[in-house]
Amino acid sequence: MPVATTRQSPIFTPRRYLMCEPEHYTVSYEINPWMDVTRHTDRDLAVAQWRVLRETYLALGHTVETIDPIPGLPDMVYAANGATVVDGVVYSAKFTYAERRAEGPAYQKWFADRGFLTHTAAATNEGEGDLLAVGDLILAGTGFRTDRAAHAEAQELFGRPVISLDLVDPRFYHLDTALAVLSSDPAAPLVAYYPPAFSAGSRGVLERLFPDAIIATEADAVALGLNAVSDGLNVVVAPAAVDLAAALRERGFQPLPVDTSELLKGGGGAKCCTLEVRTAAAS
Ligand code: ARG
Repeated sequence: MPVATTRQSPIFTPRRYLMCEPEHYTVSYEINPWMDVTRHTDRDLAVAQWRVLRETYLALGHTVETIDPIPGLPDMVYAANGATVVDGVVYSAKFTYAERRAEGPAYQKWFADRGFLTHTAAATNEGEGDLLAVGDLILAGTGFRTDRAAHAEAQELFGRPVISLDLVDPRFYHLDTALAVLSSDPAAPLVAYYPPAFSAGSRGVLERLFPDAIIATEADAVALGLNAVSDGLNVVVAPAAVDLAAALRERGFQPLPVDTSELLKGGGGAKCCTLEVRTAAAS
């Protein structure tokens, strides 16, 4: 449903996040164009940047829980890919590449151990990397990682309309690298996105659903600025995404630049490191 033209001011709602410290961080394989095994990675810097991100959330009043990192799973830091949680129901991840496959059951166990109802995915999907709840909808990416069959599976599981979006640029291989949910409020949902990352038809869908969306520039997109985390008011964003920060400020949001440059070597930013645990309906 198109949003109203007069928007209310951005509203903060406290969130519950799951994160995984990059204790075993390295780039030892290449499964996206950002990864280069010949480039030096600094685990300690990755940990330091990750801790600042975690502290930023805590200072804002959010809850941050952590899952133990597993040796041999360097991408486990990208917690957003570990599952999708809507209304307290957990849809497990089923990774495309063998290198990450063990992360799905590890994240699912974390939730099951805490009493969550979990559903083991039949279809390939990379969690919140490609499945983003906004308002009453779930926006779902496909083209590089998540299978269309997972979109149908998620719709059946969550009972929410799932909107399939085709990603066409390999640099933006997950939906959360091309689109940021700024407000999840069903009365005033808002996103920012980079149109060239989507097929023409998917751009049309986004224009209809979000006529007042923030349109990111190429400079924002290549800094993975759209891999941002919003609590409805504060938006944690890559410092290099200056156009996006200005657009956010103009709409009444509070951009909070947090440097996750070391984690960018693995192809992820702040959002990739942050899995939102949505326990209440329509949070
Ligand atoms: N190296 C990881 C991969 O290619 C990065 C994942 C980034 N996560 C995200 N939510 N976009 O799978």
